[in-house]
Amino acid sequence: MTSPDQVNVLEFRKAMGRFMTGVTIVSTVAPDGTLRGFTANSFTSVSLDPPLVLVCVANASSSTADFVAAPSFGVSILSQHQVDISARFARPGDNKFEGVAWKLSERGSPIIHGAIAWLDCARHEAISAGDHTILIGRVAEFGHENGMPLGYFGGRYVGLGRDIAPKVSRSH
Ligand SMILES: Cc1cc2nc3c(=O)[nH]c(=O)nc-3n(C[C@H](O)[C@H](O)[C@H](O)COP(=O)(O)O)c2cc1C
Repeated sequence: MTSPDQVNVLEFRKAMGRFMTGVTIVSTVAPDGTLRGFTANSFTSVSLDPPLVLVCVANASSSTADFVAAPSFGVSILSQHQVDISARFARPGDNKFEGVAWKLSERGSPIIHGAIAWLDCARHEAISAGDHTILIGRVAEFGHENGMPLGYFGGRYVGLGRDIAPKVSRSH
């Protein structure tokens, strides 16, 4: 047992990794027109009425300022066939969208083709929390398709019932 005031970061990450999640790409357009996107599994729904969702953005990430300032952002919930997209958007870089099929939503958020669901969110609130910023969005538009989700558990991509890719490493 580890007491809360002596949290070992590695052990804490391992414990949190026991919580299985889906995988999303959170995306926006920077004021200079650059497309921004990163892989996120901290996404969750918050409220049905009004429809609110949140994602936690690491303050150390290069695109955090763009996301926190953006009037809107998109969330693409990945299918089990999109491990390569998740890996691509989990690496720092300016040209993540190159070679990836995507479209702009009506409100102007980049949405990844082949996602099993997508949301277009208006910025609702950004709350500073430790080394992350909790970005809360109000859902303005959304859609969903048939298909199986990409899962993440114990630092590995998983499908429902079986592993579908080798272990991946995260920088934070
Ligand atoms: C499965 C997975 C989930 C991730 N979830 C988050 C997350 O919820 N929030 C976050 O800030 N970074 C998360 N990351 C790390 C970012 O995707 C990674 O740091 C990315 O390079 C950030 O983009 P940027 O450097 O272009 O800003 C995750 C990475 C992986 C592989």
